Amino acid sequence: MNHPAPPHLTRVPGILYGGDYNPEQWPEEVWAEDARLMRKAGVTMVTVGVFSWARLQPGPDSWDFDWLDRLLDLLHAHGVAVDLATATASPPAWLVRAHPDILPVTADGVRLEFGSRQHYCPSSPHYRSAALRLTQALAERYADHPALALWHIHNEYGDHVTECFCPRSAAHFRDWLRDRYGTVDALNHAWGTAFWSQHYRTLDEIEPPRTAPGPVNPTQLLDWRRFCSDALLALHRAERDVLAQLSPDTPATTNFMSMLKPLDYWTWAQHEDLVSDDAYPDPADPHAHVTASLNYDLMRSLKGGKPWLLLEQAPSAVSWRPVNVPKKPGLQRLWSLQALARGADGIMYFQWRASRAGAEKYHSALLPHRGTRARGWQETVRFGADLARLGELAGSRVTADVAIVLDWHSWWALEADDHPSARMRWPDLLRPWYTALHARRTTITFVPPDAELDGYRAVLAPNLHLLRPEHAQRITAYVHGGGHFVCGPFSGVVDGHDHIHDGGAPGPLRTALGLSVDEFWPVPDAQTVRLTSGAEATLWTEWIVPEDAETVDTYASGPLAGRPAVTRNTHGSGTAWYVSCHLGHDIGAVLDRALTAAGVRPLLDAPEGVEATVRTGAHGTYLFLLNHGDRPTSTPLAGAYAAGGTDLLTGQPAHGHVHLEPLGAAVVRVHPDPQGERT
Ligand code: GAL
Repeated sequence: MNHPAPPHLTRVPGILYGGDYNPEQWPEEVWAEDARLMRKAGVTMVTVGVFSWARLQPGPDSWDFDWLDRLLDLLHAHGVAVDLATATASPPAWLVRAHPDILPVTADGVRLEFGSRQHYCPSSPHYRSAALRLTQALAERYADHPALALWHIHNEYGDHVTECFCPRSAAHFRDWLRDRYGTVDALNHAWGTAFWSQHYRTLDEIEPPRTAPGPVNPTQLLDWRRFCSDALLALHRAERDVLAQLSPDTPATTNFMSMLKPLDYWTWAQHEDLVSDDAYPDPADPHAHVTASLNYDLMRSLKGGKPWLLLEQAPSAVSWRPVNVPKKPGLQRLWSLQALARGADGIMYFQWRASRAGAEKYHSALLPHRGTRARGWQETVRFGADLARLGELAGSRVTADVAIVLDWHSWWALEADDHPSARMRWPDLLRPWYTALHARRTTITFVPPDAELDGYRAVLAPNLHLLRPEHAQRITAYVHGGGHFVCGPFSGVVDGHDHIHDGGAPGPLRTALGLSVDEFWPVPDAQTVRLTSGAEATLWTEWIVPEDAETVDTYASGPLAGRPAVTRNTHGSGTAWYVSCHLGHDIGAVLDRALTAAGVRPLLDAPEGVEATVRTGAHGTYLFLLNHGDRPTSTPLAGAYAAGGTDLLTGQPAHGHVHLEPLGAAVVRVHPDPQGERT
């Protein structure tokens, strides 16, 4: 499908506002009140039908659409558009009793029971045909309904169930392997089956990596992860194809789950008209806003910087953590503005009206149990009014001149068992790098390993454990042509089959980095290693041997004392840094040096805790300032922003300094810069 995305994600103008609406949980009299209150709150779109399968199709050949007809008519009459779900994420009891093979099976052989949701095997033909039948019925009936603005395919693929080990999945896996390898010889080579007598005579002998006596073949596991992402994607595409055929004029999306390990979102995003995300930062985590920012940057990056949609977040507490802390007054507003600051064109929630029954009855809602008297409701109304003032932002873009390479295949390979250290987890390696950039007010974009890198001043790879030679070549050419590249430890170790590169790490990056790795030297838990600069490493160090690279920092304690820790290599007209250890937050000093050399300037100077980003669009340039701290702050408008502007949230001029209360925010439409200084 190819829908014109800008200036609006959907045909609904402005910034979308609303949430999941589950009217089947309520008597119909309540719907009228819902529609009236939605209007009062400024809601422009609601997601309907996500878990309505049993209600829409009460039996194999009975359908009940009348209630949905009435609901959509009602919403339309109140000016509320609909993101209509295909309702396929929770198959009804009658369907799974008729075809028990729909229920997924774990690696230990346990068949998961009906009684929750997402209880389906991605490879089940019965599930697939029933899901497509329902999708078709909905598309035929509602493609031309005036309330329809967006199709919501399924719900959170990969939530709860990401894999199934039943015989049908095994057969599907074998088909997938046949497509990938063609012959059993090619597979034997790729999987390294000479090891531990794992040789296969035919592809038919292969099974999924079920629970086994000891470590399972790592390439089998890597291929299994690839297959599981593809198997769910195949289901998604099948639903999408039905919609594309029957409802070609309405965009379709499925709600991603931020940086989720099981699904390779680079591949998935190619099949989305627009990227949408469900994000649940934890109010109890003082760094939650940094993780959220990282996830929002990823969502924006997945479609090359196009606006995206925050499709779900909690208005206050969730119900699925061991302890569910609410959002203090003003926090949901600030965190929502943060998504806008990072390129979202819509702010939606789970859910509109709080449930009285079921597993989520303690989950917050835009309209809480206490109704319009509740604190939450006041925030719902206030934020709706805020968003109404920000409509001109829709379609504007966030840009970045620093890229971070993210490769799901590398992530999967990195976190396999039987490595030098089990502590090397991609999110933990990435987070300190991202945090340092966030604190430096340097906006980044994520890129896949095969991305065109030439447009970036700097490219960062906190880890690229699995690295294909052709991807390494791109990085090498980028550096050679004048780029600035910073690479983290345990990178360039294995190829696409998870085989160690010839000669060891950093494999095909050896020329660009100008060094080789003699031995990995993980750090025992709770120990640290000092560097000459004063930085401290945990988790990981390496015995590296510089060939052309110069040493920038040296290990000052531990078994590698006196050996190089951080290096810099000139290759062609560019520079490649190698950080051979896990520096945690001390990575900031290295990044600052590398980025300064690359000519990357922070967006502006602001007090600690103030996040700053810029969106640029047809109607202007918008500076977002968000105070995540618990003290009032004052941010000087300098450099490109010295001319000040108008704070769209208050309508007041913003000049000199922007003062923000704790959890305060400003969205300044910046006056054109008389010196034309803005970059
Ligand atoms: C999401 C899900 C919603 C709801 C929400 C609660 O993962 O898509 O249906 O369960 O979590 O936080």
